[in-house]
Parts: sequence; C-alpha cells; structure tokens
Amino acid sequence: RKILVLHGPNLNLLGMRQPEIYGHDTLEDINTALFEQASLAGWEIACRQSNHEGQLIDWIQAARLDGTTAIIINPAAYTHTSVAILDALNAFEGRVIEVHLSNVHKRESFRHHSYVSLRADGVIAGLGSQGYHAALEAVICQTA
Ligand code: DQA
Repeated sequence: RKILVLHGPNLNLLGMRQPEIYGHDTLEDINTALFEQASLAGWEIACRQSNHEGQLIDWIQAARLDGTTAIIINPAAYTHTSVAILDALNAFEGRVIEVHLSNVHKRESFRHHSYVSLRADGVIAGLGSQGYHAALEAVICQTA
C-alpha cells in the first residue's frame, strides 16, 4: 500500500506561477496535505517533482520494482510531448491516475492531447489541487 505522486516540470513554481490558472497552493502545501490524507488511510506515500524528463522516467522505473501500488502523475508539459514517459508508465503494472490542475481541454489546442492518457486508468483535470485528493481517494477506495 504505497503510492508515488509525481509532479512534472515547472510545478515547483506552484503558487507563484500563473495563480489564476494553477491556483495559490504551493507544491509543498499540496504534498503536505496528500501526506496527511495517505497517512490517515494507512498508506505510505512519496511525492517527487522534477523538471527533467529522464528523472521522472527513472522514478517510474523504480516504482516498478519497489512495490508501489499506484502512481498519481501530473506530467505537466510532458503530458503533451513525452512518448518516453508513456513507455515508462506502460512498463509499470499498478494503477496510474493522471492529474491536471487546470482544465486542459478549455485551453490551447496543443494541451488537448495527452500521451499519458493512453495509459492512465483515470484522468482528472480542472479541479485545481483538489484533483490530487480525488485521485488519492480513488486509489485508496479502489484498492482491495
Ligand atoms: C498542467 C497542464 C499542462 O498543459 C501544463 O503544461 C502544465 C500544468 C496542469 O496541471 O494543468 O504545466 O499539467
């Protein structure tokens, strides 16, 4: 019962970066609240952020081998570009939930396509930081 939360590029700037789109919560606020939610349910959780595609892939590969039950991932801009992150997630056998703070479908057309959605078991977009909590709640409830 272990969950990995991955945040992609520029999400380290949350709270400061276009708050009208991405909200006022910082990444630390989000991770702290997720840690609390997971701990209350008796789950182990690790939250990581990187601006580097290869680092995200290394963490996904490690999750294949370390007993991680599910990955919640906001791949940020790599959502729309990264076949490599899709391939890494395809090699992971647990559940994958894709989260976007903003409603990508309401935005520029280049944000409408997601490589990661070809693998994700569920996708949440447009609920702000609440989307991560909904994703975590789903994983907790749906794991036997
Ligand atoms: C995002 C949406 C992406 O299109 C964008 O590149 C991001 C954040 C979101 O959470 O809304 O960096 O994934």
